Amino acid sequence: MTAYEKLQNCLACVRKKTDFVPDVALILGSGLGALADEIDAVATVDYHDIEGFPVSTVPGHKGRFVFGYFGDVKVVIMQGRVHFYEGYSREDVLLPTRLMVLMGAKALFLTNAAGGVNRNFNAGDFMLITDHIMTLFPNPLIGANMDELGPRFPDMSEVYDKTLSRIILDTAAKHDIAMQQGVYCQLTGPTFETPAEVRMLTTLGVDAVGMSTACEAVAARHAGIRVCGVSCITNQAAGISPTPLSHEEVGETGARVGPIFRKLVRESIAAMGEVL
Ligand code: HPA
Repeated sequence: MTAYEKLQNCLACVRKKTDFVPDVALILGSGLGALADEIDAVATVDYHDIEGFPVSTVPGHKGRFVFGYFGDVKVVIMQGRVHFYEGYSREDVLLPTRLMVLMGAKALFLTNAAGGVNRNFNAGDFMLITDHIMTLFPNPLIGANMDELGPRFPDMSEVYDKTLSRIILDTAAKHDIAMQQGVYCQLTGPTFETPAEVRMLTTLGVDAVGMSTACEAVAARHAGIRVCGVSCITNQAAGISPTPLSHEEVGETGARVGPIFRKLVRESIAAMGEVL
């Protein structure tokens, strides 16, 4: 079976449960999954019920697609994503994003928990992702190109859509939610960074660091759909933070600012109806 046939097979499994065609695909980061519980779900599909689908092993990541509406906008939410550090292949890490493209999503809204590399960032800040760096590990599109989805050499000059990003900033302003903006760097994890690595990232112009997101953005741009994203800065990065980093700290900050974060995402997506 080719990778594309595997993807089609996954789509057939989803279509057995629902014929919902989303406008927006939303991927929820660590500790942010509660947003999927707040929506009036039209349908849900457990990853386990999708043949060949990579199932996340991380505590705090549920494994299902939730389908519903934010305002008039039809959304598919990935409650729980998969990461390279779990040992999945590039193809498996990209599969969920590609599957949501095949479901019909026209835009991908990415969220994550990230460490603040920019010294002006504090735990609990939100950062609009304006660009990313993903070149510190092998490109996720290495391997046979999936010609059905997109070209061998996709352009990445504007990964994060300016119109969707503007809607996020306007929504934040309307609801008095402070926003930072900056460049997100994906590393594979699972270790948090050393202080020397964080100094390197500072030199490279990175504002926030995490273990996801950029590869999914690349998969979505490869397939030609629009992308936007927000990081929840759950901690200052190593060497800036006075204390050692932990997954618990990430979860605690996510939980503390979760209600505002969820409002920002919900309202932004509802406002995107006009431009999709
Ligand atoms: N580094 C990498 N990933 C993260 C961090 C961090 O400091 N915080 C949350 N996810």
